[in-house]
Amino acid sequence: MIKATVKYAVLATISFAFLHSPVFAQEVEALVKQCAMCHGKDGNSKSSSIPSFGGSSEKYFKYTMDAYKNGGRKSDMMKRFVDNLTAEDVDKLATYYAQQEYIPADQEFDPQLAQQGQELHETYCAKCHDNNGRVDPHNYGILAGQWMPYLKLSMKEYLEGTRRVNPMMVKKLKRVQSEVGEEGFEQLAHFYASVK
Ligand code: HEC
Ligand code: HEC
Repeated sequence: MIKATVKYAVLATISFAFLHSPVFAQEVEALVKQCAMCHGKDGNSKSSSIPSFGGSSEKYFKYTMDAYKNGGRKSDMMKRFVDNLTAEDVDKLATYYAQQEYIPADQEFDPQLAQQGQELHETYCAKCHDNNGRVDPHNYGILAGQWMPYLKLSMKEYLEGTRRVNPMMVKKLKRVQSEVGEEGFEQLAHFYASVK
């Protein structure tokens, strides 16, 4: 027990030192360069069709990278980049992005649609996407402040089955579609855009 504690303390010290070492910084910088033109240096994208993920959890980051690599998510653009990364590269990038700050996208939204979207969120989505999609305790990604065109595209992909996800979530999206109609997705996107 004592041994294990000491070992853990030593490991923690080494990894802490590594994360703050110039070697780690250099290696990460070289990797991040490949991603920055689309996702920004800190994982906050300037383009409305490209997601922001700075500050999201390591677990969510690794899960999505694996999904692009193994077909759970289809994106020719992402697959090209992910295929070139080793498992160690992905670990380093996950650590780096989790340390960045998530910046809500600067975009216009319609307050009335956002209000309608909030009701839908509470009925269908809040159970899994806590605190209006702001925080990510289950490693499901951050929705608050995400770009609207990306949000709408991703909901469409889950519905069409080109993105695999927890079946319960697809069920909820289908309920929005049948009980509210397509405008429900517009309302949800405006709501998440409104949450800072
Ligand atoms: C040419 C533009 C481009 C480049 C370069 C790029 N990406 Fe992406 N990335 C995208 C697009 C577009 C999506 C959304 C794809 C989809 O529809 O699922 C995406 C999605 C993601 C997601 C999922 C985010 C979420 O909220 O679910 C992560 C994580 C990610 N990229 C990380 C990276 C990393 C790390 C690199 C560099 C190794 C990289 N990307 C390079 C365009 C790019
Ligand atoms: C049973 C839990 C659950 C429910 C309920 C749920 N989700 Fe999700 N959601 C997830 C999980 C798990 C992910 C992780 C991403 C993945 O698997 O692609 C996710 C991811 C997402 C994403 C993608 C985030 C990104 O950055 O790419 C969107 C958008 C989303 N959910 C919207 C919704 C909406 C809108 C509702 C309500 C209609 C909803 N979810 C209800 C579990 C849920």
